[in-house]
Amino acid sequence: MGHTWMELFERIEGCEACGLCKTRKRVVPGEGNPRAQLMLIGEGPGAEEDDQGRPFVGASGALLTAMLHSVGIERTEVYIANVVKCRPPQNRTPTPDEAAACKVHLRAQFSLILPQVLVLLGATASKYVMDEDVRIRRDHGTWTERKGIWMMPTFHPSALLHDPSQKKLAWQDFQAVRQKLKELSS
Ligand code: URA
Repeated sequence: MGHTWMELFERIEGCEACGLCKTRKRVVPGEGNPRAQLMLIGEGPGAEEDDQGRPFVGASGALLTAMLHSVGIERTEVYIANVVKCRPPQNRTPTPDEAAACKVHLRAQFSLILPQVLVLLGATASKYVMDEDVRIRRDHGTWTERKGIWMMPTFHPSALLHDPSQKKLAWQDFQAVRQKLKELSS
């Protein structure tokens, strides 16, 4: 570890640790406040993210931005990254090997930011960052503390686009995130 941001971006840019490098248009390292108290982690870039090289810029990104805004958190305050930095073809779920190959980058980002709160967006991020056994419908909104870091799984915004009836639950989760940030900074 011990990278600077520039070294890290260069490493991600040139990464060929898994097959996703063959089909990507652009790498999507992540973006946001390098000193964020809150880091959000999604699954992997989709088509628009692959075009732009930025995370959560498509329809699910617009929903994520709106959900954050609705609880008084601006996107620029937080850091947003994904389990894998390159788009899986046809937006399939990243394989365990791909997630493992990319973990070094996520760890390096985490070490540079040192956020106090981690929000795992959906099953893939929850599985690879928190725990194999997380079930979003059962465990969303539940806090786990590890070495002083507070983690919470919640719904992936694209799942909310498919099933808007879960939006209220997700919004309650984001309110709890707001509350946790308040508690930690007081
Ligand atoms: N879905 C994700 O998990 N990440 C993105 O960056 C965009 C959509």
